[in-house]
Amino acid sequence: MKTLVVGVGGVTNGGKSTLSNSLHQQIPNSCLIAQDAYFKDDSVVPVDSNGFKQYDMLDALHMDTMMSEVDSWRRDPEVFLRRRGLNPERTTPPKDEEVYVLIVEGFLIFNHRPLNDLFYKRYLMEIPYDVCKRRRSSRVYTPPDPPGYFDGHVWPMYLKNRQEMESSVSGIVFLDGLKPKEELLADVYEDKLGISLQDPSRKNTTTNLILCISFAEKD
Ligand SMILES: Nc1ncnc2c1ncn2[C@@H]1O[C@H](COP(=O)(O)OP(=O)(O)OP(=O)(O)O)[C@@H](O)[C@H]1O
Ligand SMILES: [Mg+2]
Repeated sequence: MKTLVVGVGGVTNGGKSTLSNSLHQQIPNSCLIAQDAYFKDDSVVPVDSNGFKQYDMLDALHMDTMMSEVDSWRRDPEVFLRRRGLNPERTTPPKDEEVYVLIVEGFLIFNHRPLNDLFYKRYLMEIPYDVCKRRRSSRVYTPPDPPGYFDGHVWPMYLKNRQEMESSVSGIVFLDGLKPKEELLADVYEDKLGISLQDPSRKNTTTNLILCISFAEKD
């Protein structure tokens, strides 16, 4: 059995969850872990001098709990898959060459060293300030963004976190989040995972086989 961990990071509303969910649906024997599920309770997230909750930093997240979940997948991806109500798809070639893929998505996945060290592929979704602000304003978060939160906390923290990340992380594949969703998915497949979504012969088994080859080339 081969295993590989793929990271989809980037700015808020860049399209991380959208792309990751599509990848998860397309890639057989894949699981998805989203960083957003690990935010600490609002009552323990500190407030800055302007009254803005400091959500956009690693301290606001239960990263240890998230890492435990990732480690659980690494110990036994098949059991992990079953625990999520999914059945492993059997393929030819036989079991020891099967590929299990973990997709990890979130806005600070590359800033947490122990997690970043695990990635086989790192994708980073980018969109410009104005698009990001517009997309974010059309969403309702829990808790909701207070007035001025985007410019007072979200965007400055994005720039800070991104600078820190880029100073220490290499091998990032940048994705233009302005592209249509289908095109982004096809880009990841065609350019990075080696399969065309337009290929009418595409089957789950084929995907799995190509992931095998791609993984083997790295060794
Ligand atoms: N390629 C795209 N083109 C246009 N709109 C998109 C695209 N991808 C996602 N969106 C839209 O942008 C919004 C944010 O998408 P999504 O939730 O996938 O982003 P995210 O990066 O996971 O955001 P969050 O910061 O909330 O985690 C949604 O309304 C989604 O429909
Ligand atoms: Mg998301």
